[in-house]
Amino acid sequence: MLTVLSICPFGTNLKTHMKKILHIVSSPRGEESNSTLLGKSIIEKLLAQYPGSTVTVNNVVEKQYQPLQSVHVVAYRLPDDSHTQDQRIALRESNAAIAELFAADIIVISTPLYNFAIPAALKGWIDHIVRPGKTFSYQTGKVEGLLKQKEVYLAIASNGVFSDGPMKTMDHAEPYLRFILGFVGITQIATYRIEGSGIPGVMETAVQKGLESVVV
Ligand SMILES: Cc1cc2nc3c(=O)[nH]c(=O)nc-3n(C[C@H](O)[C@H](O)[C@H](O)COP(=O)(O)O)c2cc1C
Repeated sequence: MLTVLSICPFGTNLKTHMKKILHIVSSPRGEESNSTLLGKSIIEKLLAQYPGSTVTVNNVVEKQYQPLQSVHVVAYRLPDDSHTQDQRIALRESNAAIAELFAADIIVISTPLYNFAIPAALKGWIDHIVRPGKTFSYQTGKVEGLLKQKEVYLAIASNGVFSDGPMKTMDHAEPYLRFILGFVGITQIATYRIEGSGIPGVMETAVQKGLESVVV
């Protein structure tokens, strides 16, 4: 019997290894959150594909990454062995977030659309993980992303419909996330959405439709 393998977003259905999965949660709505629900549904399917995989959750709303201060931006440009005690302390959260990323094989990023972009909590995490010499490098004269061999699933929730149609260009979350993840070396990215949750006629089936669309 012929098996069709083309539906996997990353081009292979050979699911033989245990994976380390990192779930970035950025909605403050807990159990009510559609983006978190969608992310969890992606993870459920990944766990079925890769039995024995582990899941680490980083809730960036609870984590409250500090908006970058002078101490961070100065320290980002200096080699580790020249950091002062204050700089070392200030960089702890960033170092931990970067280590968590390097440890992961698959990253699921759950995000609401806020004001046509990502929430500040998620941007806070990004500001702590995009670091010269750590996740990207200019050493060869051109930018090189240092996070290799990662797969990312974006789980985006919105009241409007942005995957297609007249509002598509108003979504600044997906293009930005794809760009910044690419900047740090991650190019295998699949997007799923629960969208139209504020539109009568669409909202009634938005969650079900989003969950059913997930293929890993
Ligand atoms: C502060 C705020 C801004 C929002 N901005 C948008 C927006 O620009 N476009 C949109 O379609 N929905 C917008 N929404 C609706 C959310 O994207 C929608 O409720 C989504 O389900 C939230 O994700 P969550 O369920 O994971 O919390 C906004 C909601 C809030 C609270």
